[in-house]
Amino acid sequence: MRAWNCVTWGGPGHLKLGTTPEPECGDGEVEITVKACGINFADLLMISGQFQVRPELPFVPGMEVAGRITRLGPGCEAFSLGQKAAAYVRHGGYAEKVVAPIAQVAAIPESIQLEVAAAFPVSYGSAELALDRAGLSANEIVVIGGAAGAVGSACIELAKQRGAVVIACVGDDAKEKIARACGADQIISSHSRRLYEDLREVAPDGVDVIIDPVGGIFFEETLRALGYGGRIVSLGFASGKIPSIRANHFLVRHQSLVGSSFGLTCVKDPGRISARWPQLSAMLEAGQIKPRISQTRSFAELPKALQMLKDRKVAGRIVIS
Ligand SMILES: NC(=O)c1ccc[n+]([C@@H]2O[C@H](COP(=O)([O-])OP(=O)(O)OC[C@H]3O[C@@H](n4cnc5c(N)ncnc54)[C@H](OP(=O)(O)O)[C@@H]3O)[C@@H](O)[C@H]2O)c1
Repeated sequence: MRAWNCVTWGGPGHLKLGTTPEPECGDGEVEITVKACGINFADLLMISGQFQVRPELPFVPGMEVAGRITRLGPGCEAFSLGQKAAAYVRHGGYAEKVVAPIAQVAAIPESIQLEVAAAFPVSYGSAELALDRAGLSANEIVVIGGAAGAVGSACIELAKQRGAVVIACVGDDAKEKIARACGADQIISSHSRRLYEDLREVAPDGVDVIIDPVGGIFFEETLRALGYGGRIVSLGFASGKIPSIRANHFLVRHQSLVGSSFGLTCVKDPGRISARWPQLSAMLEAGQIKPRISQTRSFAELPKALQMLKDRKVAGRIVIS
């Protein structure tokens, strides 16, 4: 079957369009014939060899897919052949078919386009887990970094569903529009040199939660604005910079630093992930959450789409159809 292969570590230009063998469908796995796939920041990290998961070369990247179920392994009675589904897969999604463990598969309502579904599982699965890890509750103030990105925009929508007050950090006007459309209450520029002061202006008593997919200066500056008992959730390092912090900071301010890994939780605690899909799918069907698709590209244009993400020119998800 056709697939994009990663044959050497490097940038999007190193990917090769070719073939790969059809996948085996084992116990507790379904095969999805892929109609659309989401382009993720972590795909860039994985093809460059910088991701925590480093598959053996050559491999097919791609971690977020949507399509129809075309094979059911033993123990997959909850799904049916021909059913619409979206899934997180570790890699292998940039191909015609892929298999996924059922905990990572969300049933998608017939009314939802598969291109939209392809922007759903990683962003909303990760966002829901991150907000859970933060213990975010109604009326709390949450700061969200990279807020017009795929994970950031999902965090805004789900935080608003929980009744929180959302301060969104974004890099430009187009991204501000997206964050506002998702429901953000306040916007702060991620290019501001006064991030801490800007936050103190809108939240003088400090913020309760920070969701950080960016790292670097964003982490350091927003942490200064975290209030008593506050939680900062480290999700990723889109800035390319991993911050360092002295542990006493958290003691003297009675705060917590929490890591949240969607990928690892799928492996270590799959029930925690699978339990969330029915509610998230229902919210998708009801229009309460709306995956932001910045553009749709053809399969042949996949490396170009990855390059756009690398150049920070994307708000929401690019979807390959
Ligand atoms: N831990 C988990 O469970 C989990 C799950 C999924 C993703 N992630 C991580 O979360 C991060 C965001 O993923 P995503 O899919 O939402 O990516 P995305 O759509 O590309 O969004 C990333 C955002 O980060 C901001 N950013 C700040 N500095 C940047 C830089 N130097 N280069 C690129 N972007 C920069 C950008 O916002 P502005 O330009 O508006 O500032 C951008 O919109 C990634 O690090 C990813 O690996 C973690």
